[in-house]
Amino acid sequence: MGSTLTRRKNKQEGEPMSETTASLKIGDKSFALPVRAATIGPSVIDVSKLYAQTGAFTFDPGFTSTASCESAITYIDGDNGTLLYRGYPIEQLAERGDFVETCYLLLYGELPTTAQLKEFDYRIRRHTMVHEQMARFLQGFRRDAHPMAVLVASVGALSAFYHDSTDISDPKQRMVASMRLIAKLPTLAAMAFKYNLGQPFVYPSNHLDYATNFLRMCFAVPTEEYKPNPVLANALDKIFILHADHEQNASTSTVRLAGSSGANPFACVAAGVACLWGPAHGGANEAALKMLEEIGTVENIPQFVERAKDKNDPFRLMGFGHRVYKNYDPRAKIMQKTCHEVLNAIGHINDPLLEVALELEKIALSDEYFIEKKLYPNIDFYSGITLKAMGFPTSMFTVLFAVARTAGWIAQWKEMIEDPSQKIGRPRQLYTGAALRNYVPIDKR
Ligand code: SDX
Repeated sequence: MGSTLTRRKNKQEGEPMSETTASLKIGDKSFALPVRAATIGPSVIDVSKLYAQTGAFTFDPGFTSTASCESAITYIDGDNGTLLYRGYPIEQLAERGDFVETCYLLLYGELPTTAQLKEFDYRIRRHTMVHEQMARFLQGFRRDAHPMAVLVASVGALSAFYHDSTDISDPKQRMVASMRLIAKLPTLAAMAFKYNLGQPFVYPSNHLDYATNFLRMCFAVPTEEYKPNPVLANALDKIFILHADHEQNASTSTVRLAGSSGANPFACVAAGVACLWGPAHGGANEAALKMLEEIGTVENIPQFVERAKDKNDPFRLMGFGHRVYKNYDPRAKIMQKTCHEVLNAIGHINDPLLEVALELEKIALSDEYFIEKKLYPNIDFYSGITLKAMGFPTSMFTVLFAVARTAGWIAQWKEMIEDPSQKIGRPRQLYTGAALRNYVPIDKR
């Protein structure tokens, strides 16, 4: 079996046509597969008819070379460490925009005008409260329940409390559900945190911006006046922008696959929250901080780097490596800068964890193993130190990731639902089990 990417000549002057095809040879048969060009980045070989043409499937566990969909939302160039939301570089959005504007951009494809942003922001603020019964819903958990477990359950429960926005065939209901998810995730996240602490829930305050409102719901107590810290609120808003979307990562693919069956958006986002929890994905920020605490001092770094390189040791440097980035994750650079801003703001610039992180990064980036495997810090490497400095326990780190990524999940879900060619996702397999055989009665086994 061989394959070559050929340009089909057009009929007149022999110039290559814009359309290209890939030819696949199986035995003495050749098959032409259409190739579709991207705006930027890799083209795709359309294999949707391959099984009908050849009787064979493609095989790509982990989807290392497979495009699962067409999307216009986010683009990553892993070799150059580039990340664009609707064509805008993440560095510019993080430095000059805010998270609610980024939500609008991801959902609707363009930066909003002043009037559009004002109306969108107003709609978000009008949906921040959750049904009062949700407070009783949380009472069913033990106080020491992991906040991600509480979040998975409470996001799924939104489909019970907001059944009036679950008809995905109705564009208005889709829009309301999207607003509700972006607006209510911070409220549910803060409730999960307060429940853990044994403190009373704090209602959202609609006169506050998104990040300040969330910090207040997490850290305000009835006994004292809450004084917002604009440096921390600005840093958190930036962290939300960095985490908002990231092409077809594991949790976004989960949301799309769940949505492809027609499940309601609350259930789809709950599935995304569940997938994000894994330590290889969104759970890496919690794991990275625990790793830095385990390393403890700069002197201990070499032994942990050796363990990360040892094939027989399951230990990995959490917050390092990425399926797509084979260069520095651009978000990690901004995250490192934000980390310094936060530590400065709280007067904690000599955080020993930051010292270990900076030295670990330096050692790893000069080590042949990491260079050869193109393992660089990813967004999770510095986010844990930053969030800990803001007063969040490690158990809340992935919860904050989920709050931010809800914007991307719901934008990707919307794009899929509105795609006229959309159909239920149903992968096939390479079957290597037993061939047909007959049942054997138990006394004959
Ligand atoms: C996120 O997909 C996304 O976009 C995710 C995300 C998003 O915004 O949605 O960016 C968020 O999930 C960031 C990644 C967070 N995860 C971690 O930091 C966990 C630590 N990293 C690894 O587990 C790993 O790098 C992955 C899971 C992130 C990527 O794994 P891949 O692409 O499947 O690569 P791999 O596991 O096959 O690793 C390639 C090689 C292997 O060595 P060989 O088998 O080829 O000899 O690199 C090694 C791995 O052993 N390797 C590491 C390593 N990561 C990979 N070795 C030591 N430490 C590491 N961290």
